[in-house]
Amino acid sequence: MSFFSLLSFLFISCFSSILAERGWNTLHGGPSKIVGHRGEKAFMPEHSLGSYHQSGLEAIDYIEPDVCLSKDGVLVVIHNEWLGDTTNVANLTQFANRKRQYQFDGKFTQINRTDWWVFDFTLAELKTLNIIQASGYPYRPQYYNTDFTVLTFEEYLDKVESLSKVLDREFGIIPELKSPEVFNTLIPSTNGRGFEDKLLEVLERRGYTVNQPSPIDAPMGTTSLIDWVLNIKPADYKKPNYKLAAIQSFDQETCQYLASQTKIPIVALDENTPTMYTPAGLDKIASYSKIFSPWKDVLFADPQVVFDLSNVTYNKDEIASMGGFLSTKDFVAEAHKRGIELSPYTFYDSRQDNLLLCGSFNDSRITWCPKNRKEELFHVFDLGIDYIFSENHFESQMLRLSYDYELANKN
Ligand SMILES: *[C@@H]1O[C@H](CO)[C@@H](O)[C@H](O)[C@H]1NC(C)=O
Ligand SMILES: *[C@@H]1O[C@H](CO)[C@@H](O)[C@H](O)[C@H]1NC(C)=O
Ligand SMILES: *[C@@H]1O[C@H](CO)[C@@H](O)[C@H](O)[C@H]1NC(C)=O
Ligand SMILES: *[C@@H]1O[C@H](CO)[C@@H](O)[C@H](O)[C@H]1NC(C)=O
Repeated sequence: MSFFSLLSFLFISCFSSILAERGWNTLHGGPSKIVGHRGEKAFMPEHSLGSYHQSGLEAIDYIEPDVCLSKDGVLVVIHNEWLGDTTNVANLTQFANRKRQYQFDGKFTQINRTDWWVFDFTLAELKTLNIIQASGYPYRPQYYNTDFTVLTFEEYLDKVESLSKVLDREFGIIPELKSPEVFNTLIPSTNGRGFEDKLLEVLERRGYTVNQPSPIDAPMGTTSLIDWVLNIKPADYKKPNYKLAAIQSFDQETCQYLASQTKIPIVALDENTPTMYTPAGLDKIASYSKIFSPWKDVLFADPQVVFDLSNVTYNKDEIASMGGFLSTKDFVAEAHKRGIELSPYTFYDSRQDNLLLCGSFNDSRITWCPKNRKEELFHVFDLGIDYIFSENHFESQMLRLSYDYELANKN
């Protein structure tokens, strides 16, 4: 441990112990934070004004947009580089001839698909599309499929800022840069980082780099979770003097570039990179990111079991030289020891399959798998997970509150 990391470890330990009376095992000692996955897509078409608004009304902590670029270089919020499944583009005859195969084989991005592509449409053309609710989820309302269109990233910021004002509570923004390799190829710049720079320019111009707190400074009140959810402010409440933000990407080179350019915390997203679940892997992450966001399977079975069962290949010698695979419990502890918070994805509506690998294998290395959403989130809270990417935040809030009450009654 370097002198610096020892210092920050001591600092975090003291800081946590003040708040640890709450009994939460998170790094900052307070309740896990709820991040609205694409707003609130359980109820509204994802990334629409309605979706973001609904997530604000559910009093969550961060509202998530995914960021792509239009053909004319405008930052827009939409989940995929393609449009076929979340807009009505397939029904619009004027765009029938835009459907095409697109293939990209990068270090962090692999695409091979026939569809309509966001980078083939100007902003004006995107504005003629409706955002629709995904089909295949009969319990999700389909009534809003003609109400919303694609938003620019700045329109998303306008919405979040207006919600913060109207609802008088601070919402964090947590944009994800989608496939920087693709967009930096399409819109060349002198440093090859035109996509990242565009995002940083907007965030700087709009004041997100001023007084940006470290991620472990809990923005939520430290008094009572129910007060926080119900917007009851303690007498000594002080409005934050910052606009809370974090930036995410699956592209670790983008994460490293962003970390070299801004004080906004960087969220390193990962789906299946085995080296990241070792002590040396966490050291590397800690050098540019303070929030690590794995796919949630590694919280329900040890990372090595998850990679073996899902046929993800890795070099055994390389893993050994990096300190070996961590168990789930050690993974959380070692991340926290390095000042890294964890923000796994995605925790779905209770009507949905939770998509956990542990549920599909009869394997002696899997000792337990949650049977329902309550067991799933309580396990995650027990582990001390710092953020959850959530859908149906109404349920997440209820579960977070009931967990908090159970803790209070235990202590
Ligand atoms: C596309 O058109 C069909 C037939 O009119 C209609 O049933 C469907 O709801 C439309 N889909 C979208 C996404 O607008
Ligand atoms: C891409 O998809 C097409 C159509 O499914 C297929 O023919 C082609 O082999 C794929 N290319 C690669 C590199 O996988
Ligand atoms: C991994 O490979 C085995 C053997 O080929 C197969 O039975 C199993 O379904 C695969 N697992 C996944 C998650 O694809
Ligand atoms: C799981 O595997 C064990 C041991 O191989 C076997 O006894 C058991 O019947 C299996 N359970 C299911 C549900 O397949």
